[in-house]
Amino acid sequence: MKLEHSFFFFVFFFLPTLIAAAAYDLEEEAATNPLIRETCRKVALNDSNVRYGFCAAALQSAPNSLCADSLRKLGFISVKLVRVNITSTRCYIKYLLRDKKVDPYVRSRLDDCLELYSDALPTVKQAVKDYQSKRYRDANVEVSSVIDAATTCEDGFEEKEGLVSPLKKRNDDVFKLSALALTIINMLPR
Ligand SMILES: *[C@@H]1O[C@H](CO)[C@@H](O)[C@H](O)[C@H]1NC(C)=O
Ligand SMILES: *[C@@H]1O[C@H](CO)[C@@H](O)[C@H](O)[C@H]1NC(C)=O
Repeated sequence: MKLEHSFFFFVFFFLPTLIAAAAYDLEEEAATNPLIRETCRKVALNDSNVRYGFCAAALQSAPNSLCADSLRKLGFISVKLVRVNITSTRCYIKYLLRDKKVDPYVRSRLDDCLELYSDALPTVKQAVKDYQSKRYRDANVEVSSVIDAATTCEDGFEEKEGLVSPLKKRNDDVFKLSALALTIINMLPR
């Protein structure tokens, strides 16, 4: 009898509590902006360089992404993410260059990349301003040039066989984030 009691307790009380707790957890995790899901689905279809998962993770990483209630606001978030990525990549290159033992060939490529990213920084700052003022054509040109900077930097390392670019992940992130921003900019009504 006692065993039966605990069985009923388990099935009718404890189990539902467990299930409810698990469901609550899921809900917490799923607290994403539905507009991000919708937008990232469209972006992934429109640009094969940007996968849905990358797009969603990037946009969700912005602290104010839950508040974004329009494509325009998500686009603004994406352009600012590009700016943050460029700023930190530029710092990272400077940090790598401080190492005196860096191979001379790698150093010269890093020098090129530093120049590219140093030019990209004011460009992306201007893109943020142009976006804010709805000058989407200008923002488009500026973000496109950032994509070129990341590509040119990465290509420098690929010229020498067997060399692994120390900036591969960074360049890749800048490339994909910029492609994301560009796709959203091009989706906005002019
Ligand atoms: C991407 O979107 C743009 C603008 O809406 C459109 O002109 C273009 O055809 C789309 N490309 C693809 C591959 O869906
Ligand atoms: C750059 O952006 C990507 C995509 O959001 C992110 O995963 C990465 O951590 C960012 N890198 C830096 C250095 O900010």
